[in-house]
Amino acid sequence: MKKNIILIGFMGSGKTVIAKELSLRLKYHYLDIDHVIEKKFKCTIPDIFKIKGEAFFREAETQELSELKNKSKNIISTGGGIILKHENRQLLKSIGFIVWLKASPEVIYQRLKHNKTRPLLKTADKLTEIQNLLSARMPFYQSLADLEIDTTDKTISEIVNLIAGCI
Ligand code: S3P
Repeated sequence: MKKNIILIGFMGSGKTVIAKELSLRLKYHYLDIDHVIEKKFKCTIPDIFKIKGEAFFREAETQELSELKNKSKNIISTGGGIILKHENRQLLKSIGFIVWLKASPEVIYQRLKHNKTRPLLKTADKLTEIQNLLSARMPFYQSLADLEIDTTDKTISEIVNLIAGCI
């Protein structure tokens, strides 16, 4: 069994809720990189983006991933853009088994259309932004995934069962 399980995928793909459930099921420790960063800087993600900028946030993601290299038995929920840096992709591969939670742009839009906590989606045309970001990121998610799960018509427990059955 791999030492950690990492959930990757676009905003709104369900990483946080699935990571929590999976950690209960497998009795692994639950860890959310966004939450760790917010705690460390005592600042919300939207404020980190606003005050320090996206590059600062991406560097913070790399630092947190580096901390996990020698850890085990964690279910790790990641931010949707963590796959953007080459260094992060190398780190992710070395940390554990990678599960890509997928959803279409339309489904993501429905899930996030009223959400105010995603700085990258503070645009007039959210659906187009989701489509653009998703198509740019798709090859990275794809290349990293040990397991891909389309979350669209699945319940939380179905998704948890699929992951638990694969490790
Ligand atoms: C981001 C996704 C967010 C968060 C930040 C940037 C992204 O996490 O890390 O707002 O670039 O896709 P979620 O995927 O948990 O929403």
